[in-house]
Amino acid sequence: MTLQPVKICETVLRDAHQSLLATRMRTDDMLPIAELLDQVGYWSVEMWGGATFDSAMRFLGEDPWERLRTLRKIMPNTPFQMLLRGQNIVGYKHYPDDIVEKFVECARKNGIDVFRIFDALNDMRNMAFAMKVAKRVGGHVQATISYTISPVHSIDAFVKMGRQLLDLGADSICIKDMAGLITPYAAFELVSSLKRDLGIPIQLHTHSTSGMGTASLLKAVEAGIDIVDTAISSLALSTSQPPTETLVAILKGTERDTGLNLHLLADISHLVGEIRKKYLAFEAGISPVDVNVLQFQVPGGMLSNLVSQLRQQGAQDKYYEVLDEIPRVRKDLGYPPLVTPSSQIVGVQATLNVIMGERYRMISEETRQYIRGYYGHPPAPIDPELQKKAIGNEEPITCRPADMLCPGFEQAREEIGELASSDEDVLSYALFPQVARPYFERRTKGLGGKEEIAAAIAVALIHQQEAKKAVAKAVSEPGGWVNAWKLLNRPGFIRGGIR
Ligand code: CO
Repeated sequence: MTLQPVKICETVLRDAHQSLLATRMRTDDMLPIAELLDQVGYWSVEMWGGATFDSAMRFLGEDPWERLRTLRKIMPNTPFQMLLRGQNIVGYKHYPDDIVEKFVECARKNGIDVFRIFDALNDMRNMAFAMKVAKRVGGHVQATISYTISPVHSIDAFVKMGRQLLDLGADSICIKDMAGLITPYAAFELVSSLKRDLGIPIQLHTHSTSGMGTASLLKAVEAGIDIVDTAISSLALSTSQPPTETLVAILKGTERDTGLNLHLLADISHLVGEIRKKYLAFEAGISPVDVNVLQFQVPGGMLSNLVSQLRQQGAQDKYYEVLDEIPRVRKDLGYPPLVTPSSQIVGVQATLNVIMGERYRMISEETRQYIRGYYGHPPAPIDPELQKKAIGNEEPITCRPADMLCPGFEQAREEIGELASSDEDVLSYALFPQVARPYFERRTKGLGGKEEIAAAIAVALIHQQEAKKAVAKAVSEPGGWVNAWKLLNRPGFIRGGIR
């Protein structure tokens, strides 16, 4: 058997800035990067889905669909990949099938090629419908195993899940290690087993949070992995992916040489590094290697959420107590992998347990819904005492959660009325009504993202008196924030004005 080159999925336009810059990179800043990315010859570029959809409307005053179409035009040669949360689509709860169907159809029509589909509980009933539709519209169905560590998760269990996903029509399988927990040796074993059993391409997605990312990719390569996720070096490492150039260089001259051009990658890295400076105010500021993730198995994004939650409550001193409580809540809830939305449910409940001074004295509505079965089957049974306390004698549902939902697309269309100018707009509203409506209203008035400009000014405030004055002046003049953004986007301004 001749070995294939390792193929690369570049995450700079999705997970890298979601992990390091709070998902704030604007389409305008993606355009020059995109042009270069399209020359590289990646297997795919992940550029949509996850938190980017919500963030575009909520913080940037942008239409996520427009971003997809714009990038598609600039990048005709590269397959586009999105992260789809199964029945949660790109949101935080379950949506009815008609909305999932319409969303996948529109995503495909606007330019998505690879649909990476996962469920936070690894409940395949929550993935099957999206997989079926993605297949029907001609997308590549990448079914996902959300990787986690617990007494009920094992290599055998993951391989069994891989086999079931294959039966459901998966074209490839992704091991999604969202917290950066997979060790190089576990990666070797899991990839070897999946390769032996399934006969379809396997892709590894990990994060460098714990410092093991690059080593895990390399061991996965030794085990015969087909595709790996990396981020261009200037937006890699820490809570982001391992650096693209590093892996390309490691494999150079070997039988798995990626064949990618390191000079071109260096140019992209330089450009991304310059653009990153604009987003200083959004830097997560997490240390290069975070040992907490190994000790508490809490993903990086969840840690930063936790810190801001505790800050709001004036309870920063409880940080380590909450970190200790998270694994206990996770155990009580049947060891869900910690990824959106289960990470939020567990994180909020653990915080409540500590702040209230008594475990489960207060139970969040999301925790109750989880215990009622409205997110799917947990990997292990829920603690019976907690269940009793949360929902009494009520029987949890055993059907697929989305079976309890009525169709929603036509109702959403009626509700949003003329503010929506396309099916895509109706979908944005159906997913995030409270975010989409004010966004549409601002859009009809020709306005964009107000928070983004405030943040840009914050950057200026922090770093340079001159820049501060210039931005403040631009905002106060006719044209307001639009002018301020133009100013901040002038290449010389950033280099000369802001560190
Ligand atoms: Co990720």
